[in-house]
Amino acid sequence: MTYLPSTDRYKKMQYRRCGHSGIKLPAISLGLWHNFGHVDVTETYRKILHLAFDSGITHFDLANNYGPPPGSAEENFGRILKEDFRGYRDEMIISSKAGYTMWDGPYGDWGSKKYLVASLDQSLKRMGLDYVDIFYHHRPDPETPLEETMAALDLIVRQGKALYAGISNYPAQEAAKAIAILKDLGTPCLIHQPKYSMFVRDPEEGLLDVLGNTGVGCIPFSPLAQGLLTNKYLHGIPEDSRAAKSTGFLQKDQVTPERIAQIKQLNDLALKRDQTLAQMALAWLLKDNRVTSVLIGASRAEQLADSLKALDNIAFSADELAQIEKILAA
Ligand SMILES: NC(=O)c1ccc[n+]([C@@H]2O[C@H](COP(=O)([O-])OP(=O)(O)OC[C@H]3O[C@@H](n4cnc5c(N)ncnc54)[C@H](OP(=O)(O)O)[C@@H]3O)[C@@H](O)[C@H]2O)c1
Repeated sequence: MTYLPSTDRYKKMQYRRCGHSGIKLPAISLGLWHNFGHVDVTETYRKILHLAFDSGITHFDLANNYGPPPGSAEENFGRILKEDFRGYRDEMIISSKAGYTMWDGPYGDWGSKKYLVASLDQSLKRMGLDYVDIFYHHRPDPETPLEETMAALDLIVRQGKALYAGISNYPAQEAAKAIAILKDLGTPCLIHQPKYSMFVRDPEEGLLDVLGNTGVGCIPFSPLAQGLLTNKYLHGIPEDSRAAKSTGFLQKDQVTPERIAQIKQLNDLALKRDQTLAQMALAWLLKDNRVTSVLIGASRAEQLADSLKALDNIAFSADELAQIEKILAA
């Protein structure tokens, strides 16, 4: 059956300006790291993509290595774009990245110009696109000069293979340097993608200030701590969860009794706010206006539907924030 997007999709979402750029991103964006590979079920991820677009999600985040196997999320996304979303490309912000191991030999990893340019060409072929909207360097490379990696992003943008450049997993100081180099090259850094959630607070130690001061957007990944910040693990590790799967990046040993105790208390607080824990965890990130969008994952459309309702209440009282800090400090 032909997919027809909901006609009121743009009324359902809030859009936030990405740093000092011309781009607005949906407050909630969808990532295809897990659940969109060849190991996953097409009809399940097709439904997730339909619901996302129907709900005003315009931003879809990929990387060369997403799958498994690596590259398969881009292939599957490209197929569904062609089959279901033909005619809607210009309503989407599609990103990809390179920086982690992708192919054998010295040119399929890290941050050389050789790797970034070749990898993006492969990503474009897999997705059947002429260009991506955002291309990221996925992680800092301690060996390649930062100037070379940033020159690769600048080149890619000038070639029109990406419209904007981004960086991911860069700590505050390296991010500041990368942002300054890109500015000098005339290709401003659009956005930074750090790991950030109630359970991972590193960006608060300088990175958010750097981004706020330089007008660069911020899109936290794993805002639900890969599912820990939901009601999923309240009563153990379900069989269909990321922690139970051999292909997932969340390990069973991360679901400790101490974590469960915190999750239970956070869940109680969320219920008092008339939210699920997932909704509260996303709202908690979005309360900071330096955060442009939260980049969530979902293994089922129902999870996405749940997470989207976070936008109904992103305000916190001082007392609620203090209670959250107390729970997280325990
Ligand atoms: N730049 C980087 O280095 C980097 C690294 C990681 C991720 N990312 C990006 O960030 C995106 C999101 O990462 P993530 O998948 O770790 O994000 P996440 O939103 O923290 O976790 C998503 C997982 O949580 C569970 N979940 C989601 N919503 C739920 C709900 N409402 N109720 C119950 N469980 C729920 C599902 O796990 P189950 O499978 O257990 O159902 C889902 O797959 C990725 O797709 C990718 O685009 C970037």
